[in-house]
Amino acid sequence: MGFIRPDDYRAPELITPLFTAEQIATTQSKLARSIRQELGQELLVMGLLKGSFVFIADLVRAMHHRGCTPQIDFMTLSSYGNDKESSGAVRMMSAHHDDLEGKPILLVDDILESGRTLSFAKQWLFDRGAASVHVCVLLDKPHKRVMPIEADYVGFTIEDQFVVGYGLDYAGYYRELPFIGAL
Ligand code: IMP
Ligand code: MG
Repeated sequence: MGFIRPDDYRAPELITPLFTAEQIATTQSKLARSIRQELGQELLVMGLLKGSFVFIADLVRAMHHRGCTPQIDFMTLSSYGNDKESSGAVRMMSAHHDDLEGKPILLVDDILESGRTLSFAKQWLFDRGAASVHVCVLLDKPHKRVMPIEADYVGFTIEDQFVVGYGLDYAGYYRELPFIGAL
């Protein structure tokens, strides 16, 4: 067995960058400023694994520079499998969170597409007593929306294309790229 790549796998140097590391950092700094101004200092940042891990790591440090003192937690939902199209059904895979009761939450994901993942996550957090849930995504694909949900904070809006890097994967690959590229 070992590492089996999809047939259409391409080497990282053949991937067209859409947003550079510098562009991502600039956008993140702006997001952090808005979050601090509008949501205040105290927040629970709830990231969706695995896609948001790189984004969150940089976002919380940008938030620190704006005076935020967040708590940080993660949960894992699943809908995609190894494909480029979502399977539709969202499942809770693990949630190892502290008490959510009465807390303002910033729900963070890499990308908002159909909206199934974030709708499910948002409801799940409200069901556990969250005082408020605001949504922050690095990327938004508005043309693919199925559920009535919008993000409060969006880094970049993109066309209907499959992107990888900066936490986003194709079949588990490319998460380590420091930029976002189109496959
Ligand atoms: P949604 O539930 O359809 O909104 O899909 C959101 C999830 O699908 C994200 O958390 C991503 O993990 C994944 N996803 C959607 N579009 C892409 C993409 O272009 N590249 C990699 N993953 C994606
Ligand atoms: Mg994801």
